[in-house]
Amino acid sequence: MPAIVLVGTQWGDEGKGKVTDLLGERMQYTVRYQGGNNAGHTVVTPDGEKYALHLVPTGMLTPGCVPVIGNGVVIDPKVLLHELDGLSARGVDVSLLKISADAHLIMPHHRALDRVVERYLGSARIGTTGRGIGPTYADKVGRMGIRAQDLLDPKIFRQKLELALREKNQVLVKVYNRKKIDIDAVVEEYMGYAERLIPYIDDTRLLLDKALTRGEYVLLEGAQATLLDVDHGTYPFVTSSNPTTGGACVGAGIPPTRIDRVIGVIKAYTTRVGAGPFPTELFDDNGKHLLKVGGEYGTTTGRERRCGWFDAVIGRYAVRVNGITDLFLTKLDVLSALEKVPVCVGYEIDGERFDEMPMTQTALHHATPLYEFHEGWSEDISAVRRFEDLPKNAQAYVERLEELCGTRISVIGVGPARDQNVIRHDMLEA
Ligand code: GDP
Ligand code: IMO
Ligand code: MG
Repeated sequence: MPAIVLVGTQWGDEGKGKVTDLLGERMQYTVRYQGGNNAGHTVVTPDGEKYALHLVPTGMLTPGCVPVIGNGVVIDPKVLLHELDGLSARGVDVSLLKISADAHLIMPHHRALDRVVERYLGSARIGTTGRGIGPTYADKVGRMGIRAQDLLDPKIFRQKLELALREKNQVLVKVYNRKKIDIDAVVEEYMGYAERLIPYIDDTRLLLDKALTRGEYVLLEGAQATLLDVDHGTYPFVTSSNPTTGGACVGAGIPPTRIDRVIGVIKAYTTRVGAGPFPTELFDDNGKHLLKVGGEYGTTTGRERRCGWFDAVIGRYAVRVNGITDLFLTKLDVLSALEKVPVCVGYEIDGERFDEMPMTQTALHHATPLYEFHEGWSEDISAVRRFEDLPKNAQAYVERLEELCGTRISVIGVGPARDQNVIRHDMLEA
């Protein structure tokens, strides 16, 4: 039953794209199970080609691997077609793609509401990607969503849209002082997309069940991350889906008993895009250094990422919430040339020490990190491929993170390319 989940452990942008791409060759299927084009995954293939993927599963870049967009994903059809066209133009075969008939569609009113609600929130805004993600999930749960399968029947599509716009247009016009959305224009636009998307729509949960029963490998590829999870993250500064492993079952239609490995991708330091608490955030030159050396600019919105030191409280939390069996530590190379490398091992909150994530959001807002200071290393490690060839201080740093997080660090990333890794254990073997 080789279903493997890959999950982000921090606030996103840990390097999940690279890790999925690396595992791709051993997978028959890769499945996106939540999120939408709020994600941005940069992948550098062995021929040096750089891709920025948003909606399509990273497995798309591995010849022969079937990429699946699961029921838990929200799809902006225009963005998806644009992405497929861009990949085709670069010679990538996109014909194997499967889209769950149950995946929800991002509609123009969702995008409009995402932007206008953020504006109205003012200083309390979330800092969303503005792609319509939150409003689409809200309508899904509110039973007012439009699904990929509705593209198959223009009459039903129009009926559902009519119902949704009856309410949404009132909200847009009367609450937010925006223009109303014209139903005819939307139907025409989306029926154009339907023509091209229908061949990809499938019963993906049946497809995946059959594949798993045949003993094929399925990688469930998470976007976003643990602390952006709507249930387990820093609510309300989260995305509107469940990137954690439970979400993988729901969003792909696979039962938990099928999953035997959970790979957590964790950066050697921490970043966050958008608003919300971030205990180890740096506002000094060290933060600027991580931003610059790490190239921490958003793949989707181009925003500067907020940067901070490694936070082991978060690492432990992610291991616990997701049942992580292996950690993939990325971007260790970015920490070269620091004299000291601080690691947050706990928090002090209103005079009390916390080794685990505090229960309330208010407490997290008040958390002051308790640091341990590790000796740095000056060597460029990007060409290192064996653990014993890493500088002693880098080895000690990795071993300490492993101890603090309570799970083995199986692979260490030392650069963005697919082969720039130090492999310590096979992540697919216990
Ligand atoms: P994702 O959203 O989790 O897929 O991550 P992003 O692609 O948004 O951001 C991670 C960035 O780090 C990308 O530009 C990757 O190419 C890059 N990257 C991944 N692993 C490593 C690594 O080990 N070292 C370095 N220097 N860059 C890496
Ligand atoms: P990947 O997959 C980092 C953040 C946004 C915002 C919050 C809600 O590349 O790791 P949304 O548009 O989802 O409603 O925004 O979530 N966010 C991400 N931050 N990486 C991502 O994806 C993100 N996707 C959403 O910045 O704070
Ligand atoms: Mg990203």
